[in-house]
Amino acid sequence: MANDSNKFQAIISHCKEYGFIFPSSEIYDGLQAVYDYGQMGSELKKNIKDYWWKSMTQLHDNIVGIDAAIFMHPTTWKASGHVDNFNDPMIDNKDSKKRYRVDHLIEGFAEELRIKGEKESNEADNLLGQMDSLLAKDDFAGLKTLIETNKIKCAVSDTCNWTDIRQFNLMFSTEFGSTVSSDDEDNKVYLRPETAQGIFVNFLNVQKTGRMKIPFGIAQIGKAFRNEIVARQFIFRMREFEQMEMQFFIRPGTQKEWYEKWKTTRLEWHKSLGIPAEKYRYHDHVKLAHYADAACDIEFEFPIGFKELEGIHSRTDFDLKQHQEYSKKKQQYFDNDVDPTTGKAYGNYIPYVIETSIGLDRMFLAVMSHAYEEQDLSTAEKQDSRVVLKFPPKLSPIKLAILPLTKRDGLPEIAEQIMNDCKADFRCFYEEKDSIGKRYRRMDALGTPFCVTVDHQSKEDNTVTIRHRDSMEQERVAIADLKNIVLNAIG
Ligand code: GAP
Repeated sequence: MANDSNKFQAIISHCKEYGFIFPSSEIYDGLQAVYDYGQMGSELKKNIKDYWWKSMTQLHDNIVGIDAAIFMHPTTWKASGHVDNFNDPMIDNKDSKKRYRVDHLIEGFAEELRIKGEKESNEADNLLGQMDSLLAKDDFAGLKTLIETNKIKCAVSDTCNWTDIRQFNLMFSTEFGSTVSSDDEDNKVYLRPETAQGIFVNFLNVQKTGRMKIPFGIAQIGKAFRNEIVARQFIFRMREFEQMEMQFFIRPGTQKEWYEKWKTTRLEWHKSLGIPAEKYRYHDHVKLAHYADAACDIEFEFPIGFKELEGIHSRTDFDLKQHQEYSKKKQQYFDNDVDPTTGKAYGNYIPYVIETSIGLDRMFLAVMSHAYEEQDLSTAEKQDSRVVLKFPPKLSPIKLAILPLTKRDGLPEIAEQIMNDCKADFRCFYEEKDSIGKRYRRMDALGTPFCVTVDHQSKEDNTVTIRHRDSMEQERVAIADLKNIVLNAIG
């Protein structure tokens, strides 16, 4: 059984071997922190997206979805504050010339302390507490002293020979057409670093055309790009990734109540997938982003430790106000509900916003790392083991594998008939190669919740053996009942 420190490596290898995730452009040795999803990975990713989209839009009468472009007018990013503020404090090691994000460097060291078993002394927590308060004050000299006094070393050079800490903007830029020079700061076109701004600039379009009444939300799933400096944690930190974001527009003054509501709602969504509550925890932000008056992360216990999976941010009216100022177009809502304290309509205002923002790739990693299990199945007679991905059935790339016992005697024909009956309702997979045992193992490694074996008895009584992935139990069921058994499990 892989322990936590090598479980991460085992998952990365498994993802590659079974067609979940490949390094991008691998034949050219890959591109750092960019990954491609394979035939199994893209199915799992799509199922996660669908689960989020349905829970946000279909199950909330007052939330609608959009799909905005990745390129946006460059002024968007001046208004949002990303040109001036989307920086991270960085430090370079003078010997290796390697650059680190300061918080990641310190967090990595704190994690090492924890792994070494020094948790009781609270050393790691103290260190992170000191880091948070220095970050909150933008005290870069203090942060450098913290790194030096703790003798935090560069992983490459193994030295503590650090430069001063500097700010570094994380946005990628390019130019449109052939006339604009990329040196011309005013004409830079950015690859969006968050999907949120596509929602803000469409706030009035959606509100008016959808006749939306506050409170209401706009959801979006899409690509985002960040020039991450330390990008070596597989799909946890990528340069091109996907976000699933929702901006919830509310009346000013109600933000505390809605912030708490969305914190709870989002944690419940995670738990609804059957992943135990103790794998999650909240982390309240001490240093708030330039747009927030409250913020927290939902952290998940990845094999690399508890880390941010989703952010819940109370963004005030910052974004809409900024877009109003920069575009010179009013971003107001007229609220004709009556304020009980004044007896008059609330009237015109710029709405406040609560944001929920989850990384799709991080959610993929959370689902994958919780599902991955290496099991020893040895008996007194023989050594045996399996790798199984215990995905929630609704997220599994394949729901039902259909396996004829032999390639003869009319069994493939019955199996093909089952395949044809079921494939419009959920993803099925047909396989007649190898022994049944080997085919089961392969389906376990892909996370397929159900396998059916068509055997000679099937010809007599129209039944098959259904095998359950997690318990490995097998039972005889009527072919006519198969579809409903699977649909009930994935519903
Ligand atoms: N609109 C708010 C926003 O973008 P964020 O905390 O910077 O907030 C939200 O990002 C989520 O996006 C994170 O919780 C994380 O899941 C995901 N994310 C951020 N940077 C990422 C990266 N480089 N690779 C993968 N996921 C990332």
